[in-house]
Amino acid sequence: VTDENVMPLYFERVTESLKGAGFQIFSHCIPAGEPSKCVDQLIALWEKMSLGQITRTDAVVALGGGVVGDLAGFAAATILRGIDFIQIPTTLLAQVDSSVGGKTAVDLSVGKNLVGAFWQPKAVLIDPRTLETLPNGTFRDGMAEVIKYGCIWDGIFLKYLSEHAKRSEIMEAIELVLYTCCDIKRHLVETDEHDAGLRKLLNFGHTLGHAYELAGQYKIWTHGQAVAAGMCMETRLGIQLGQTPPDALEPIEHLCASFGLPTSIPCSLEDYATAIGHDKKSSGLNITAVFLDHLGKAKLHDMPKSDYLLAVSKLISGKERKGKKSKS
Ligand SMILES: NC(=O)c1ccc[n+]([C@@H]2O[C@H](COP(=O)([O-])OP(=O)(O)OC[C@H]3O[C@@H](n4cnc5c(N)ncnc54)[C@H](O)[C@@H]3O)[C@@H](O)[C@H]2O)c1
Ligand SMILES: [Zn+2]
Repeated sequence: VTDENVMPLYFERVTESLKGAGFQIFSHCIPAGEPSKCVDQLIALWEKMSLGQITRTDAVVALGGGVVGDLAGFAAATILRGIDFIQIPTTLLAQVDSSVGGKTAVDLSVGKNLVGAFWQPKAVLIDPRTLETLPNGTFRDGMAEVIKYGCIWDGIFLKYLSEHAKRSEIMEAIELVLYTCCDIKRHLVETDEHDAGLRKLLNFGHTLGHAYELAGQYKIWTHGQAVAAGMCMETRLGIQLGQTPPDALEPIEHLCASFGLPTSIPCSLEDYATAIGHDKKSSGLNITAVFLDHLGKAKLHDMPKSDYLLAVSKLISGKERKGKKSKS
């Protein structure tokens, strides 16, 4: 399973190699982009697999970014009640994040990733050279997740990134960067496969990041941009709530900006409330917030959603006041 951008670049090489090893191949190509991570594409893929008479000893190979990986992974998890699945991720985001950890999903029109399964790939094959053909914007999006790993788990890695804050320099040490990120994710997932505790640290920047994705209706801001601004805002929030030391913010802002990622995104309190789940539809009064204890170490902090939202509203109104002052 691949998409229309990756197909002309890498499909032949992968299929020739598989054929050479004696495999029979059926392929399926989806349009590139998030809208393909949907139920319609899932049904088309299930039907293609069934028409190809797929059996339980076959495997699904996902060749592409996170969209292909999540869709093909969920198809593998569900066809014939689950068959083997191999990830060959070709974006930076997929290589450091989505291909590892076994989360698969499709989006519904009412929200992202709402239907899915935990389904571990049998193998993840990463060829860093595939990153050479990535557009700058897509590379930059993956860097948001790379920066996240440094923030939550590895201060030395974060320092390394800030001293090599250019695509060319990251590519010079790409194996180290990929290994460091995958190893952190491996550790967190092995400790907490089903997201009940430590794995939630990976959500740093994502609670408020989701508000930004929502505010832009998933069209204006990419996931990476939203996560970068989310990490900065959640750090400001941690500082305000006395959970994070004030000197943690500037290095993160600086690093995100060096890669062309935003450090703040305008967003209404309503969108924040929806993303936090503080609206009539959501149940449960508490949120597990991720705050930085210091740069390189994150912690989980349970608090009432209403308090979290109040802190956000104080932050944004403080910012507005500051903005007005500096204008006058
Ligand atoms: N399962 C998880 O744990 C997990 C974690 C994070 C994100 N995700 C999901 O991943 C998705 C985002 O993944 P993504 O950023 O990889 O997006 P994507 O799969 O849409 O890829 C981004 C773009 O890059 C193109 N592309 C891919 N590889 C290329 C290459 N080597 N050269 C040139 N172009 C290439 C694609 O065709 C696409 O246009 C989202 O749906 C998100 O929800 C899942
Ligand atoms: Zn993410």
